[in-house]
Amino acid sequence: MMKNKYAKLTLVGAGPGDVDLISVKGIKALEAADVVLYDALVNPKLLDYATKAIKIFVGKRAGDHYKSQDEINELIIENAYEHGHVVRLKGGDPLVFGRGQEEIIAASAHDIPIAVVPGISSVTSAPSSIGIPITRRGVSDSFWVITGTTQSNSLSKDLNLAAQSSATVMVLMGLRKLSLIVQLFSMYRDADEPVAIVQNATCENQKHVVGTLSDIEELVEKNKIGTPGIIMIGEVIKHRTPSELVELCNVQRQN
Ligand SMILES: C[S@@+](CC[C@H](N)C(=O)[O-])C[C@H]1O[C@@H](n2cnc3c(N)ncnc32)[C@H](O)[C@@H]1O
Repeated sequence: MMKNKYAKLTLVGAGPGDVDLISVKGIKALEAADVVLYDALVNPKLLDYATKAIKIFVGKRAGDHYKSQDEINELIIENAYEHGHVVRLKGGDPLVFGRGQEEIIAASAHDIPIAVVPGISSVTSAPSSIGIPITRRGVSDSFWVITGTTQSNSLSKDLNLAAQSSATVMVLMGLRKLSLIVQLFSMYRDADEPVAIVQNATCENQKHVVGTLSDIEELVEKNKIGTPGIIMIGEVIKHRTPSELVELCNVQRQN
């Protein structure tokens, strides 16, 4: 196949879900796109910016069809060759647990120019959406971001190290392993160590629970918290902004 002279790949971070949390640069890339390949965690309203593009859903979610990473890489190359500018729209930031780098490598192997537009990650937006400061002077000097689902599907060894620190710990893709994570942290931190979970942060269907290592599993079950969700563990959760103020901030965002 002949390569289209406008062949290009732009990885765009769509942000955590609220349609207004994409960057201006991300919107410009969508407006210029010939093809958009988008994931399940992307707000579909963002596709309205891509007025002239072919839109292809490549995300995976229970019940929906889904493409493997190799198939997605092939689609990027085929579409860039055939149509020109491909925007790969990914939830949050494309290079935070997003396999964006694999897509960059695949495109570069075919001499397709690449651009990256960073996005607002769920890592920072989930805590702020419920008023939790991810760091606070004198309380937490660092935050660790860890996947709950490694390539081998086992718990990451980093979780063990993180549990022994005093850091705020954020676990992505960890909800299905909540029990194991709670067991691990209970070996090193007190039973009343605060834990918060936010599902669909910044989206209209956002839900959250705030508890401790001893009761978080019960709260998750009682409140029917599911995926996609982020688990936060650490003392900073005690310093949460009162919910009336967080609500006020959300109302301004929606207007
Ligand atoms: C494959 S990772 C992608 C992360 C994404 N690149 C980011 O920067 O947010 C998917 C995981 O991110 C977390 N996640 C993404 N969006 C979320 C949201 N709006 N609310 C809560 N968690 C979210 C969940 O842990 C989910 O399982």
